[in-house]
Amino acid sequence: MEYYRDWARAQLEKARGKMAWVSEKNRQRIPYTTDENGDYDDRADESRVWNRDDGLNWWTNGFWGGMMWLLYQDTKDPGYMEIARFSERKLEKCFQGFYGLHHDVGFMFQPTAVADWRLTGDGDARRMAMHAANLLAGRFNPVGRFIRAWNEVGDSDTRGWAIIDCMFNISLLYWASEESGDPRFRQIAMLHADTVQEHFIRSDGSVCHIVEFDPESGRMVRSHGGQGFGEGSSWTRGQGWALYGFANSFAHTGKREYLETARKVAAYCIANIPENGIIPVDFRQPEDVEWEDSCGACVIAGGLLELARFQPEGEREALVEPAFRILKAIAGSRADWTRDCDAIVQNCSASYHDARHHFTMVYADYFFLEALYQLSGADIRMW
Ligand code: GLY
Repeated sequence: MEYYRDWARAQLEKARGKMAWVSEKNRQRIPYTTDENGDYDDRADESRVWNRDDGLNWWTNGFWGGMMWLLYQDTKDPGYMEIARFSERKLEKCFQGFYGLHHDVGFMFQPTAVADWRLTGDGDARRMAMHAANLLAGRFNPVGRFIRAWNEVGDSDTRGWAIIDCMFNISLLYWASEESGDPRFRQIAMLHADTVQEHFIRSDGSVCHIVEFDPESGRMVRSHGGQGFGEGSSWTRGQGWALYGFANSFAHTGKREYLETARKVAAYCIANIPENGIIPVDFRQPEDVEWEDSCGACVIAGGLLELARFQPEGEREALVEPAFRILKAIAGSRADWTRDCDAIVQNCSASYHDARHHFTMVYADYFFLEALYQLSGADIRMW
């Protein structure tokens, strides 16, 4: 384990060096991806908080601030706090837009407002996080016992759609109960997690992306392939959301079934992680397709490391070694440590069927950094 720790600390040294200039260059932005020149874009456009689009309410807009809080925890450099607060104050404007917000308020406000409150005790951050938690709780369907994921998507009726990614968003509900003493938030989170265990996790430990329920009766209608190859496939980032999400649900609730579920998903992932540690977009994509997702890779690595915390010492290596293999592959051949690109992690894919593959995504950098901190033994708690 010492070897892994030392390796992670060496990578963090490089990451701190790169993030020092990247954060300075982009301090007035909320980035998602880089352009052909390697420069970050900006999703902080306030004029577009009314719709589900790529403006200020874009679902990944919490990760840039989250990265700043990770670096602030580590370095105590107030510059990182200032940049994180820039994101946070901007994101607050999304509450006015309302219609653009959906279950990803967890991804937006947990790494920003909750992190701020935990680290600095800022009252505005707490208020913002509570507001977001109430919006998330309001998406609960009490008959189907699931949290509705998105609002409208094209022509689809999404009133009964739940998605695996929400296993991360419910962290905000656990936090809200722990913070306020009101059990309702945790109860909703657990009812949702129970539904996910029943309907998303297959007997072999693989996971569906989307499950559709009848919003009136709560009956399961069907599953959808979502961002993966297709129905019945195994979108790798979704495996990561499930693995890390259930380990995290165990951390907040102590419910043993969640730990068992995380173990089951981990076993499936480990059996499918290639020897070279490079993760495909879908574990069941056709063999001749070479699309990768470095972001899913980092989420899976983080999930394995989170789960390892709850294993007896002798059983941790079996989880830490594959996480290390993934992170080593990213650091060695899928990371840009130069000044040519603002992002570190390369070769991400948002969705199997998108035309575009192998680009940068800010949440890949977030989860890469977080996993390096986990592996280094740092005491960080974001979720
Ligand atoms: N939450 C959507 C994604 O992982 O792309």
